[in-house]
Amino acid sequence: MTRVASNKLIIALDVDTRKKALNLVDTLGEVAGVFKIGSQLFTAAGPDIVREVIAKGACVFLDLKFHDIPATVAAAGVEAARLGVSIFNIHACGGREMMRRTAASVSECAARENLPRPNVIAVTVLTSVDAVELAQIGVPSSPEDETILLAKLAAESGMDGVVASPQDITRVRQVVTKPNFLIVTPGVRPSAGNPNDQKRTMTPAQAVRAGADYIVVGRPILAAPDPFEAAKDILRAMANALTAEAESA
Ligand code: C5P
Repeated sequence: MTRVASNKLIIALDVDTRKKALNLVDTLGEVAGVFKIGSQLFTAAGPDIVREVIAKGACVFLDLKFHDIPATVAAAGVEAARLGVSIFNIHACGGREMMRRTAASVSECAARENLPRPNVIAVTVLTSVDAVELAQIGVPSSPEDETILLAKLAAESGMDGVVASPQDITRVRQVVTKPNFLIVTPGVRPSAGNPNDQKRTMTPAQAVRAGADYIVVGRPILAAPDPFEAAKDILRAMANALTAEAESA
């Protein structure tokens, strides 16, 4: 059971040096299903850090949230596939054509070059964004309605899944019926955790119970006095939630 739960835990390597990142992979490799490399670490350490984490036997989620014209994002996606990442993401608000071309280019490249095809997932509404911030950028919808609209568009445009707030999982599952559609949820906080800049949060247990395929956790693990213990506590909570669910089924 813990094995299943550990595969659902993505730990964000939100640090500023290659050395800190590799130390975290050594410390947390046993408890993380996947490590996430985002803008900070990638900008500081470059693509070699992705290769080095993969060389340690870990799976990588490349979280660079590409958003540009379709040709540029599709080409960046091909390079992500060549790096060997298991998952990478693009912004759903880049539109249907950007998502469609990226999914197609990645599939073609993987087949042509005999590479494993990464899952391409779309960011819906950032978990730090609320209705006030959406209104400031000219989006009159609620974060929930905007997430549903973008999740549907992502599924229709060939995405393998979405990044969404844990609070939106149930509705995304209701409207997107595509088989094996992944939901990856950041904005997860242990019950007593500091929300930091995350606004629409849930606990790890609530998120897996709601149907998250993966939860992404950064600061609650990285800033803990003992990151390994903090990760294990989160895994335990996830495992208990999954066990309770299996028993009630
Ligand atoms: O520290 P914390 O647990 O809030 O980290 C969440 C991670 O997930 C960060 O690396 C952040 O960039 C990322 N993320 C997010 N919201 C999204 C997509 C990614 O918080 N919609």
